[in-house]
Amino acid sequence: MKSIHVCIVSGKGGVGKTTVAINLASAISTYFKENPLLIDANLFNSHLALYLGMYYFPYTLASLLRQNLNINDIIYKHPTGLRIIPNGIEVRKSINFSKLERIFSNILKKEKIVIIDSPPGFSREIFQILKPFKNFLIVSNPDWISLNDAKKIAEILRNRKKKIVGIVLNRVSNKSFEVSKEEFEKEVKAKVIGEIPESDIIKKSVHLRNPLVNLDPYNNISLTFGEIASFILNKNFEVEKWKKSFIEKIFERISRYFYFPK
Ligand SMILES: Nc1ncnc2c1ncn2[C@@H]1O[C@H](COP(=O)(O)OP(=O)(O)OP(=O)(O)O)[C@@H](O)[C@H]1O
Ligand SMILES: [Mg+2]
Repeated sequence: MKSIHVCIVSGKGGVGKTTVAINLASAISTYFKENPLLIDANLFNSHLALYLGMYYFPYTLASLLRQNLNINDIIYKHPTGLRIIPNGIEVRKSINFSKLERIFSNILKKEKIVIIDSPPGFSREIFQILKPFKNFLIVSNPDWISLNDAKKIAEILRNRKKKIVGIVLNRVSNKSFEVSKEEFEKEVKAKVIGEIPESDIIKKSVHLRNPLVNLDPYNNISLTFGEIASFILNKNFEVEKWKKSFIEKIFERISRYFYFPK
């Protein structure tokens, strides 16, 4: 089976990779009725499971690297149905890269859709971890420091013959001092496939340990994740079906109060 996979990377840390990874996976499952596998490949400082409110795992990717386990032993289901491979929070002394490569290659052979959350930066070690993957999505904030690091990671990816599927600009507030989408496209030489605004609703969804797309699939930010998913899957997204009428929006406002109590 030919799998669809995408590694969510960034040059600069803290720009929103994990947020994008979980909402993209949630969009694939909510709007396209697919069952993606979400992997935490951040072996240094893993957060993915924490964002989903999952704290205790008998085995993780780190355990699989140390002992002989089955891949199915480290796949866990979130209450929303999302399947994840978490990482241990223990500090690792050394990584068995060849075993990791085999594990990831096997996953790509078995799974239809795989989303990989990565560590930040462009060290050699990171590219060793991500070696079996071909497709990369760069997340960046719309400032010139993030742009600088996005350019660096894009160059390294190209040198390594990887495919850059696009850029997601996160925490956009359309201020005059922000770097524009057009400038990103020109400098990084890749298409901006989604712009996610700076938003308290995203922060609240983190607080509620649930992807925003799952909490509120009608929200405009969720629909943007739907459009990013549509691009990755190369499938049509009937966004109009998920848009609400004026009256529905009023009801949504009221119900959102219960989703996101102050
Ligand atoms: N669009 C947004 N609006 C507001 N806050 C956001 C947005 N996106 C992410 N955040 C917040 O920014 C912080 C960093 O996000 P996240 O952990 O996803 O970044 P990361 O790139 O995965 O970080 P790391 O490099 O450490 O892995 C989190 O507190 C998250 O809630
Ligand atoms: Mg992260």
